[in-house]
Amino acid sequence: MVAGKGWFDDNHLGIDQGPIIAMIANYRNGFVWERMKNQSVHRSRPLSRGIQRRLVGRQVLTAARVAALLAAAAVCLGGSAAPLASQATRPAPSTRPMTPRAADRRMDRFVDSVLARLTLEEKLGQLTQYRGQFGLTGPQTPEAGAADIRAGRVGSFLGVHGAELTRQMQRVAVEESRAKIPVLFAHDVIHGFRTIFPVSIAEAASFDPAAVQRAARVAAAEAAAHGLHWTFAPMVDIARDPRWGRIVEGAGEDPYLGSTMAAARVFGFQGASLRDTLSILATAKHFVGYGAAEGGRDYNVAEIPSRTLREIYLPPFHAAANAGARSVMAAFNEVDGIPMHAHRDLIDGVLRREWGWDGILVSDYTGVMELMNHGIAADSATAARVAVDAGVDVDMVSNFYMSHLPREVRSGRVNVAVIDSAVRRVLRAKYELGLFEDPYRYSSVARERALTLAPAFIAEARDMARRSIVLLKNEGNTLPLRKGLGSIAVIGPLADDGRSALGSWAAAGRPEDAVTPLAGIRQAMGTGTRVLYARGASVDSADTTGFTEAVRLTREADAVVLVVGEHQDMSAEARNRASIDLPGVQLGLVKAVKAAAGSKPVVAVLMNGRSLAIPWLADSVSAIVEAWYLGVQTGPALADVLFGDYNPAGRLPVSFPRAVGQIPVYYNHKNTGRPPLERERYTSKYIDVPWTPQWPFGHGLSYTTFSYSPVRVSANEIRPTDSVAVSVDVTNTGSRDGDEVVQLYVRDDAATVTRPLRMLKGFRRVPLKAGERQTVTFTLRPQDLAFYDLRMRHVVEPGTFTVWVGGSSLGGQSARFRVAGRVTEVRNRGALPVDWRP
Ligand code: NOJ
Repeated sequence: MVAGKGWFDDNHLGIDQGPIIAMIANYRNGFVWERMKNQSVHRSRPLSRGIQRRLVGRQVLTAARVAALLAAAAVCLGGSAAPLASQATRPAPSTRPMTPRAADRRMDRFVDSVLARLTLEEKLGQLTQYRGQFGLTGPQTPEAGAADIRAGRVGSFLGVHGAELTRQMQRVAVEESRAKIPVLFAHDVIHGFRTIFPVSIAEAASFDPAAVQRAARVAAAEAAAHGLHWTFAPMVDIARDPRWGRIVEGAGEDPYLGSTMAAARVFGFQGASLRDTLSILATAKHFVGYGAAEGGRDYNVAEIPSRTLREIYLPPFHAAANAGARSVMAAFNEVDGIPMHAHRDLIDGVLRREWGWDGILVSDYTGVMELMNHGIAADSATAARVAVDAGVDVDMVSNFYMSHLPREVRSGRVNVAVIDSAVRRVLRAKYELGLFEDPYRYSSVARERALTLAPAFIAEARDMARRSIVLLKNEGNTLPLRKGLGSIAVIGPLADDGRSALGSWAAAGRPEDAVTPLAGIRQAMGTGTRVLYARGASVDSADTTGFTEAVRLTREADAVVLVVGEHQDMSAEARNRASIDLPGVQLGLVKAVKAAAGSKPVVAVLMNGRSLAIPWLADSVSAIVEAWYLGVQTGPALADVLFGDYNPAGRLPVSFPRAVGQIPVYYNHKNTGRPPLERERYTSKYIDVPWTPQWPFGHGLSYTTFSYSPVRVSANEIRPTDSVAVSVDVTNTGSRDGDEVVQLYVRDDAATVTRPLRMLKGFRRVPLKAGERQTVTFTLRPQDLAFYDLRMRHVVEPGTFTVWVGGSSLGGQSARFRVAGRVTEVRNRGALPVDWRP
């Protein structure tokens, strides 16, 4: 360990604070951010000689060191597609060392030297995560925290942040504990830290992984400036059930879109190097099947056939692992009778052995303890033993590892090699973050000040928000509204709700930072237009007394914007709904306003964290904008779209049902033996509502129009090991510039197991000027045509495949090609090419 030499505390000067102080103005004016986007912040400006001299002997980031670390960060993992090992024949949990790269070997030697000096209790301390407590004025350490750090009983904290606070706690760890190992500070930084971005499902609607990566990069930079090293994001759970409240945190229903978003976020959080103090460890969660909770009830059992698990639920985790996510969180649910905190076959078997992933597997909050409730551990010692043996490295909050594993190890019931492997993973993360050289490097008050709500971050938040908006309906070109209107009525319980604008899991976000829809419209309209406002009703009460004022203002105004939906606390963890309509009396409010408006334009803006079933609104209001929860820049982004300064191009990452009874409704379903037909009674449908969704996955409109040429395939016949190129010309046929989200879907027309009607295998958000035409080409690899056959081999089978290219999961231009030859096994390397970048 380099204690004493590399650790210093010259009044908050850390290794990276030299350049920070030199560039503080550049942080605020966005210069640093511009560089950061290109992942080159450390090369953007050489250190002054004075600063270099001050850093001599303190492990300055030399070019060679940066190169070594970048190489270490470029994790490319592979694995075979072997079926899960059976419980009976499975090998001992993986304790193998990390991949032997040069930079890794150096790290391994260091980590082993630290490990060798630890007592068993100190090792278990590294695997223990404590919860921080939040006071009114910000996070505070629990009273017992310092004593626990001093005694080496804690390796990381959840929910503790702030440069000053983390510095104080770190000081106890590295100066007052025997082992002097820095602690990690972790938090749920889901869609921004203080500069809140759109909720994850909204960002997914952008179909723009590069923008999503930038959003995660900002979140990481700001969180890191507040002392955080580790985020519990991205949530990559596929969700086909909008009753489940946590659908808001993910990327929706599709494994390909989900994989792109998972990887983009990991790249964003972790940057090109974990060493630049603007990067934090990412966590792909919740492994796995959490989104399949029965009945949409959070924490509930998930019944997932193994093929569906492989093809739908696992791919985003595979993408996150391939992108180098340093941690993965176990899920609360069970899969096929085995709680995920005990699922050795999936954690050790698939994640570690098959995919070669070697990061930290962290439990969910009290997940280890909950093994007793699941009924697979009769007591807490068994729960601890089962979890650590399954491959759960870090025990979040239960404190079962610390309490029970010393005895379990000493009695021989748990192999100390399993503990050592887990501790190595934690120490390795601390090493990669540079904490052994300077434990205070994330605790810079100066950087915290400079980066909090930095103007460049706000600008990114507005851009991301605009990209996330989906125009669901626009009959008669109701939108965009004219800016020269004499008056506009803004009505609805969410029109001026700053807290809801931020959405759930808003980390350190504050309602007062958010520009609400009302404030955004006011700013955009200036003084020439009267902006009238009535709340009309609350989101979820039965009180209709506000309708009168709403109706009065509607009559007075030239146009109406209704902002309705769910408040932010109606989605996220444990926020499940059995009905997914507009809550409270909001539908009544919409009807009253619509009736009073007569022929005036009425626009409904939806704010919600899930897909809603809103058939009346869908049929009766001519313009509907899906705004989700867009974060601090909700108002400006919305106004940009409403008044035509920005042409919306977001697409639905989830299907919108017409009725809750249709759930699950998702685009990539099977055909069945009796596919629904309007006039055939004995086909798969309902007698009271159509079988189709209100709006399908991939749907979204624009203020311009696009046309597609017929699809071209590079070959009519290929071998199972060949790739095929699929091209189309897309033209902006309208008079406005706009982005089109070009989507590629594939169907294996006949196979030995049934295949979905279509599956997304590529998309591109293409900016097109009015009248512009562009050729878009996708490559379909064998991996994209493969599936798990009867023996769970990942194979391409000969036969015909249909491809569609279009602007939604419905329709599109189609073509067909044939795969000739024999059934061929294809190693499953994940839904994205290994070198995929946003
Ligand atoms: C429980 C949630 O399931 C998980 O997503 C989150 O990261 C932890 N709590 C920590 O807040």
